[in-house]
Amino acid sequence: MSERVFHACSAATMLVDEQDYGLIDDAAIAAKDGRIEWVGAAGNLPELYQGWSKTDLGGALVTPALIDCHTHLVFGGDRSHEFSLRLVGASYEEIARAGGGINSTVEATRAASDEELLASALTRVDDLISDGVAVIEVKSGYGLTIEHELRMLRVARAIEQHRPVRICTSWLAAHALPPEYADAPDAYIDEVAIPGLEKAQGEGLVDAVDGFCEGIGFTPEQIRRVFEKARELGIPVKLHAEQLSDLKGAMLASEFDALSADHLEYLAEEDVPTLAEKGVVAVMLPGAFYALRESKLPPIDALRANTVPMAVATDSNPGSSPMSSLRLAMNMACTLFRLTPEEALAGTTRNAAAALGIGSEYGSIEAGKRCDLAVWNATHPNYLSYWIAGDLLRGPISAGKFNEH
Ligand code: NIG
Ligand code: FE
Repeated sequence: MSERVFHACSAATMLVDEQDYGLIDDAAIAAKDGRIEWVGAAGNLPELYQGWSKTDLGGALVTPALIDCHTHLVFGGDRSHEFSLRLVGASYEEIARAGGGINSTVEATRAASDEELLASALTRVDDLISDGVAVIEVKSGYGLTIEHELRMLRVARAIEQHRPVRICTSWLAAHALPPEYADAPDAYIDEVAIPGLEKAQGEGLVDAVDGFCEGIGFTPEQIRRVFEKARELGIPVKLHAEQLSDLKGAMLASEFDALSADHLEYLAEEDVPTLAEKGVVAVMLPGAFYALRESKLPPIDALRANTVPMAVATDSNPGSSPMSSLRLAMNMACTLFRLTPEEALAGTTRNAAAALGIGSEYGSIEAGKRCDLAVWNATHPNYLSYWIAGDLLRGPISAGKFNEH
């Protein structure tokens, strides 16, 4: 049994409905067996906790551990050559249609061994951990055969055996059409995406089902068929929607009570109230916006006005968002999308937890939730979005244990 009080810190609790980060200037946090028992002003610490061992955090800032709720960080190879092509004018869509893009990563992923996939994923996981991240969503989508998609999710799950992070997996077989199904997208959905999902579910590999609803991905009708199978199996859905065009993917996702709709640059303002009504989290991916030099902004004002919860994630992948810093994504969300630093932090804590369906356990510093926190060399939570790069993390508190760097 482990009982401990963390004190001499300021705590951004990120409680819902609180202003100003729910910030407590001189805070104490009591944790037992990896759970938070009490949080509040140090002067109000109940007697019950006063005899517990103490950890002095030396005036540091404490936040909930960060959550990256949208990544593709298991993949083979890289696409640095496409970066060069895009710099001289080729577009993401042109490269994809010419057989590059996602399919070039599919080739490299199929060719890599499990060990190679895991080793390269761990380098990106380590980058995220050094940014205070304790929960990472990882998608399949670069295997595109049943066996290679399952393999990607097995590798994703294996990350938990090697690093102190929780992994949430998403089945993204409906990501791109592999060469062996060129011109046969419906057959691909029937023969790979749907039966593979049943198999993955049978192996306990799937926490959510995702799709890429786009001209270079799949139509809403094709995604609908995958979502119907997800509903039958009782698995929540999410969707890459309105990234490059408006195919009404977010409306489809809402119809299926999706956890989240992601990207949303081309989301029509008139569709925003439906997201709000259905409690769908809008996941902002400014790294992809930046890397693709997109100019159309997601309808942030309408999302805000309708109080749609907004999350922020890296979209870490070798093509559209080659990055592995969640704090950089927060900075980009502020600079490019005009989120406030408080919205950006809510987007990588409370709202990111909601986007993964784990809000009862993660995302705020609150009695009953897991004591997974981040201790920062920063005086104010604004700083986490403001400062670009650098190593701000003093250490994670994982399951109630402080691992100072
Ligand atoms: O979220 N949009 C589709 N999927 C990824 C890109 C994957 C890739 O280019 O490899 C995204 O941007
Ligand atoms: Fe993505």
